[in-house]
Amino acid sequence: MRTLFSRALGLVLGLAVMMAAQAAEPGKLPHVVILATGGTIAGSGATTTTTVGYTAATVGVQSLIQAVPEMQKVARVTGEQVFQIASENMSNAHWLTLGKRVNALLAQSDVDGIVITHGTDTLEETAYFLNLVVKSRKPVVVVGSMRPSTAISADGPINLYNAVILAGSQEAIGKGVLVCLNDQISGARDVTKSNTSTADTFRNPDLGMLGYMQGNRAYFYKTSTRKHTLDTEFDISKLDSLPQVDIVYSYANVNATALNALVAAGAKGIVHAGVGDGSLPNPVKDGLLKARKSGVLVVRSSRVGSGIIARNGEANDDELDFVASDTLNPQKARILLMLALTRTSDSKAIQQMFWTY
Ligand code: DGL
Repeated sequence: MRTLFSRALGLVLGLAVMMAAQAAEPGKLPHVVILATGGTIAGSGATTTTTVGYTAATVGVQSLIQAVPEMQKVARVTGEQVFQIASENMSNAHWLTLGKRVNALLAQSDVDGIVITHGTDTLEETAYFLNLVVKSRKPVVVVGSMRPSTAISADGPINLYNAVILAGSQEAIGKGVLVCLNDQISGARDVTKSNTSTADTFRNPDLGMLGYMQGNRAYFYKTSTRKHTLDTEFDISKLDSLPQVDIVYSYANVNATALNALVAAGAKGIVHAGVGDGSLPNPVKDGLLKARKSGVLVVRSSRVGSGIIARNGEANDDELDFVASDTLNPQKARILLMLALTRTSDSKAIQQMFWTY
C-alpha cells in the first residue's frame, strides 16, 4: 500500500516539475498580446448574482491576466489597455486606432498572436473590420463574455483562456480574424450576436461556426471561403478617418424622414436594412434613388438576419444602380461599404467587393 502511494506521489510530483519546467521556458511558449478595450468581460456587478445591471469596462487588462494564471502555462502573455469602454460606444476612430496597433504588433517577430477583449454588443463589427484590414496571417482572436467578472460562473476567464490558446495556436494561422466564446470558434464574417443575455449568444445563421475549443486546444472543421486580412485591398495605415456610412431600417408604414436627414447630414453611403429579401418600401425607394442620383452609394441589406440578398431580386439594382449585400447583415455591410469607399465610388466595383469579402 505504502509503495503504491509513494509511486503515485512520485508521479504527481514529477508531473508538477515537468509543468513548472515547461512554464519556466518562456522561449517555448507563443507570445500572445492581449489588447483590452472594455466590455462585460471587464465588467463588475454589486453582487455575485448580478448578471444584468452591472457596469462594463471597469477591470483593467493586468487584472484580467492575473485572474487567469493558467494562461501562463500555455503562452507568454502581455497586455495593453487600448480603451476602456462599453462596446456600444465603439467608433470608427477606435477601430482605426485598434487596427493600426494590431498591425504594428503583428509586424514584430516576437509577437505570435493577438487577443482583443471586447464588449459583445459590437464585437462582431470590430471583428469584421479587423478581418478586412489586418495585414498578417498571424491569429487575431476577439473575445468577450456575457457575465461580468464578479458573477457566479463568470464566462470571461474560460473564454479568455481559450482565446489565448487559440491565438497562440498553429491551427489558427491564416484563418482570418476569429471570435471565440462559449468553447466555439467563429469566423468574423458570419458571426453575429443573436441573444441579449445568454452565454451562447454568438451564432452563425445557416453558415455555421468554424470549430471548437476543447481540452486546451483548437479543433477546426471549416474555413471561410471569403477573402480576408492579407488578401484584401484595404489599407488603413494612412487613414485618419472613414467615410460616413449610415443604416436606414425599414418596417411597415416607414417614411423617408430618417433617410433624408442622413443624406442631408452628408452620408457618403447608405445601407438599407430592408424587409424580407431587402425589399424597398416605396417612400424609402424614392428617397434612396434620389440619394443615389446625388452620388450617395446605396447597399441593399436585410433586417431578416440570414440568407442571400440577391442582386436584381426584390429590386432592379441594375436600373437603380444599387449594390446587393450578399449575406452581410446591415451592420457588417456598413463596414465593407465604408472601406470600399476608401478605394472607389464605382458601384459595380463595390458590388464585386460584396461578392468577394
Ligand atoms: N455594454 C455592453 C458591451 O460593452 C455589455 C455587453 C457585453 O460586453 O457583453 O458590449
